[in-house]
Amino acid sequence: MFRIQNNIVTGFFAVVLLTATTAYAAESVDVIKLRMGAGNLVTGKNKSELCQGCHGEKGVSLDEMVPNLSGQYARYIAKELRNFQTGARTHQIMSALAKTINDAELMDISNYFASQKKMQGNGLGDNPVGKKLFLKGDASRKIPACESCHGVNGKGRAPNISNFPVIGGQHKEYLRAQLVNWRSGERSNSPDGMMNKFAHPLTDAEIEALADYLSGL
Ligand code: HEC
Ligand code: HEC
Repeated sequence: MFRIQNNIVTGFFAVVLLTATTAYAAESVDVIKLRMGAGNLVTGKNKSELCQGCHGEKGVSLDEMVPNLSGQYARYIAKELRNFQTGARTHQIMSALAKTINDAELMDISNYFASQKKMQGNGLGDNPVGKKLFLKGDASRKIPACESCHGVNGKGRAPNISNFPVIGGQHKEYLRAQLVNWRSGERSNSPDGMMNKFAHPLTDAEIEALADYLSGL
């Protein structure tokens, strides 16, 4: 009995995995290059050993609170690292670590993680509340559709527009923490404080729904 159930469960995951793989066809080298920066890939890979223990060898982290960096925009990664260096964004570990690398290393490492396959979610986050906010926002509370900046499935607005980070396929707990931090003002490093404004009206339940939906993409 257990064996049969087990097979059904395994079959189910195989189907999900298959759908997820076919939904995201491999990106071409030209497309990947558009999100990369000027840094040196070989040095970047070597220097990123400093980061791999937490962010994973290829930028896919195993810890829900540590963001995936794989396929993130190089310029966004670099901006965040500089923000950690100056104190515009703070986090106990990252603020200290960012100060241990120089600007050339910062560019190289950003480029290395950007060159990796774009982060992908578990394919299970079909949260209707999160989906509606992501696609439509809520005009009555001046919340714009997240998709208008973060792009289709949260994979970025366009391969060459680096201002809006990839959030689709990011870890759920990390997303939730960032949305809570945007709402409280604990994180305030987005241009014109835009993310603080958008997150301000969100309820805890909506943040949970958004994190659930986005992490599945
Ligand atoms: C000890 C674990 C640890 C190590 C080592 C580490 N990080 Fe992090 N990193 C984190 C955590 C945790 C966060 C989430 C910070 C937050 O919640 O604001 C983070 C966040 C980041 C972010 C922000 C990502 C985003 O989506 O906004 C970047 C970029 C980053 N790290 C790059 C690096 C680089 C580059 C290195 C190596 C030089 C590195 N990290 C080493 C734990 C680590
Ligand atoms: C007008 C454009 C815009 C809209 C609309 C928008 N965002 Fe953002 N978002 C940004 C920008 C720009 C950043 C990068 C901030 C920075 O530079 O650190 C960001 C960052 C984020 C981050 C942090 C990502 C990370 O890796 O740390 C999350 C999470 C996020 N947005 C979620 C949302 C959600 C959910 C919505 C919809 C309710 C939304 N955003 C709507 C522009 C937008």
